[in-house]
Amino acid sequence: MTDSLFSRFSLRGTTIANRVMVSPMCQYSAPDGVATDWHLVHLGSRAVGGAGIVMTEATAVEPRGRISPQDLGIWNHELADALAPIAAFIRSQGSVPAIQLAHAGRKASKSRPWEGSRPVSPDDGGWDVIAPSDDPWPYEGEPPRTSAMTADDVDDVIDAFARAAERALEAGFEIAEVHAAHGYLLHEFLSPVTNRRDDAYGGSFENRTRLTREVTAAVRAVWPDDRPVFVRISATDWLPDRDSWDLDQSIRLAPLLAEAGADLIDVSAGGVHPDQRVPDPGPGYQIPYAEAIREETDLAVGAVGGITTPRQADQLIRNGRADLAIVGREHLRDPYFALHAAGELGADAEWPVQYRRAVD
Ligand SMILES: Cc1cc2nc3c(=O)[nH]c(=O)nc-3n(C[C@H](O)[C@H](O)[C@H](O)COP(=O)(O)O)c2cc1C
Repeated sequence: MTDSLFSRFSLRGTTIANRVMVSPMCQYSAPDGVATDWHLVHLGSRAVGGAGIVMTEATAVEPRGRISPQDLGIWNHELADALAPIAAFIRSQGSVPAIQLAHAGRKASKSRPWEGSRPVSPDDGGWDVIAPSDDPWPYEGEPPRTSAMTADDVDDVIDAFARAAERALEAGFEIAEVHAAHGYLLHEFLSPVTNRRDDAYGGSFENRTRLTREVTAAVRAVWPDDRPVFVRISATDWLPDRDSWDLDQSIRLAPLLAEAGADLIDVSAGGVHPDQRVPDPGPGYQIPYAEAIREETDLAVGAVGGITTPRQADQLIRNGRADLAIVGREHLRDPYFALHAAGELGADAEWPVQYRRAVD
């Protein structure tokens, strides 16, 4: 039987009610990394809205790994405790709680988008940032001080991801996603645009991919065998005229991530350099990358980018182009995207009993 948007999906011991996932989306609303009522209501509403998986925004594994001072974090137990009721609520609505574990690398210490995404100086609550090499993100204005990571820094980052995953487990999350996309730390190692190292973590494909593989393996080592691990990658840097990360390398990397313990590749693109040119940011603009990885590797993939309508999401699954339809901005416009999609597609999905009088 052909799978559809409302077919169940099982990975390891986890069964997901449908193929809709809420894409990770920073809310820049967590003072000192702490999840607030905003996160409970925001993520909780999307679980009420019927999405099979609700993924948190990028959640920093160490304070230096925040994009902005207001990013969500999980670098200590208090932060995990603040996330626990959110994971429990998502689960209570029949959705699978997932957490994106992240380190922003050289794109850290910026103000929030609505404050201009400008570097924040240490005097204003910002910090010095770490990256594979010491070139800063090319900001207009004074960038944060960017240092090339030492071998000890590399070990510390791997450990920070593993400890964060342990805390995420305690907090009740069922899926852990390693954020290796969008020009943040792990992507900065993958891409020759940002990685000029000459040690075991730079140069060859094997070396540039080492940190992402090691972080994935470290997360998998603490994550229970019956729960899935996802990795989000940028399939391409969108810098075809430079020595950069591209789809061929992503296709080579995907099975190595599976060997390291990943169960699904969440396929995004771009973010490593402001010179990138997105060829056509129209509907489903990144789906061909997910499809190519699925076709070439047989791995489960999630497609994201410009998925906005139920039919488009359903076709994606029916045509075997991806295993998950990952929906970002449309979920900001409509928390009930999945329930509305079920209505439009004639699929079974129950509105919460509390809301039945509005739909019966
Ligand atoms: C407000 C906002 C915040 C985002 N934050 C994150 C994030 O924390 N982690 C991430 O991997 N992607 C993040 N993204 C990218 C989205 O997850 C998604 O990949 C992108 O918006 C394309 O999908 P869409 O067209 O469905 O919105 C963010 C996007 C938006 C609009």
